[in-house]
Amino acid sequence: MTSLDALFEAARDVQARAYAPYSRFKVGAAIATESGRIFAGCNVENAAYPVGTCAEAGAVAAMVAAGESRIAAMLVFGEGDQLVTPCGACRQRIREFAEPQTPLHVAGPDGIRADFTLESLLPFSFGPDNLARS
Ligand code: THU
Repeated sequence: MTSLDALFEAARDVQARAYAPYSRFKVGAAIATESGRIFAGCNVENAAYPVGTCAEAGAVAAMVAAGESRIAAMLVFGEGDQLVTPCGACRQRIREFAEPQTPLHVAGPDGIRADFTLESLLPFSFGPDNLARS
C-alpha cells in the first residue's frame, strides 16, 4: 500500500465515524507526518451549532496530542459532487504545521479528486515567522 493509499483509507474510515446529525455532511481528514505516522479526525457537530469542529481540526489535534507537529501530507475525504476543500479557518490551522509546498489531497468515495498545495489554498499567509521579533 502506498502512503497515499494509507492516508485515503484513514480519512475514509474516520469519515464514517463523524458526528454530523445537523448538517448530515460527514468529513474525514488524515495527516501523514514526516515520521510516517498517520493521524485522523472527523467533524464533531454540536446542538449549539458554532461549537462544532471540522475534521481537519480533529486531525491536527490528534497529531499534536501524540507529540508531533509537522504535516508531510494531508487528505480530506467527503461526499457530494463538489470538492470538499478545507474551510478558511482550517487552512490556517494546517498552515501552522505545514510548509507552502505540503500536498493537500481532496478525495471522495471514488478516490482522489484533486491535489493542492497549502500555498495554493492559502496564499500570502500569516504564520509563526510573522511573530518573530528581531
Ligand atoms: N466540514 C469539515 O469538517 N471539513 C471541511 O473541510 C468542510 C466542512 C464540516 C463542518 C460541518 O460539520 C459540516 O462539514 C458542514 O459544513
